[in-house]
Amino acid sequence: MNRRIILDCDPGHDDAMAMMLAASKLNNLKLEAITTVAGNVDVEKNTNNALRICDLLGLNDVPVAKGAAQPLIRKMKAAAHVHGQSGLDGTTLPVEPFKQIVKQHAVDLIIEKIIDSDGDITIVPTGPLTNIALAIRKEPKIIPKIKEIVLMGGGTYGNRTPAAEFNIYVDAEAAKIVLESGVPIEMFGLDVTHQALATSDRMMEMSAINNPVAKAVMQMMNFYSQIYQGKLGFTGAAVHDPCPVAYLIDPTMFEMERVRIDIETKGEFTYGMTCVYTNGMTDREPNANFARTLNQDKFWDLFIRSLKSYS
Ligand code: BDR
Ligand code: CA
Repeated sequence: MNRRIILDCDPGHDDAMAMMLAASKLNNLKLEAITTVAGNVDVEKNTNNALRICDLLGLNDVPVAKGAAQPLIRKMKAAAHVHGQSGLDGTTLPVEPFKQIVKQHAVDLIIEKIIDSDGDITIVPTGPLTNIALAIRKEPKIIPKIKEIVLMGGGTYGNRTPAAEFNIYVDAEAAKIVLESGVPIEMFGLDVTHQALATSDRMMEMSAINNPVAKAVMQMMNFYSQIYQGKLGFTGAAVHDPCPVAYLIDPTMFEMERVRIDIETKGEFTYGMTCVYTNGMTDREPNANFARTLNQDKFWDLFIRSLKSYS
């Protein structure tokens, strides 16, 4: 049976790739909703991008709802330096989407979907955790009904600051609420997403695929790679956001570790740090499974097969 998911995102090149993976007919996922949040760029642009990607993927029946425009407490800090001013620079997709958002706010749609479920919906956040924290605060009855939160964020080091990964840094207060909620959590941070590199041989393989989705993803990869290979000094683009989706499709490609994770919300230099306690560093109860390693061959095999599944 297909696993039901809500994808909460801020597209964003790698968020768009996560959508591609989640929507492929090859994979065992059912997208119940796509919700958007301020992150890579403002929530209006991220929402517009989510709709444009839905048009590309043929996701006519999946509701898209716009979410929080600002983090819970701090001022918004976007990532246009990575994703461009539009949030999806480098693509030639139509600027205006055909698909429209639903009227409901993302937070209310998340609450409604979870309350109406049999406890079988997994939330997959690939942006800041603002919507998820707001949903938990607005309707705590959802807490025992969320099957799992499988998220991209955090790590034992940072990319937005030396201590903090971007998604957690944007709204650490929200991340703290989510990590302390008691909902089962699987965290895919930089330790593992930096293993999902689109190296030149993988790019070659992808560029040979001849369908509109693969072409658009290649445009995204090309733009995104320039940033990663340029000033960030990587050997290829780090494809972060597809990692939690890939885990739901084939968990065997990741090694996970049961850990305690605390979110730093006060530090002058360490705001947004995810403190990952391993190897008996603390007696406190673990609150998450933390991804350590990725089988890169399995990941790229899945990614490329999924790209080929579109016509
Ligand atoms: C995360 O930050 C964003 O720029 C990406 O979309 C990803 O979700 C990586 O730190
Ligand atoms: Ca993202």
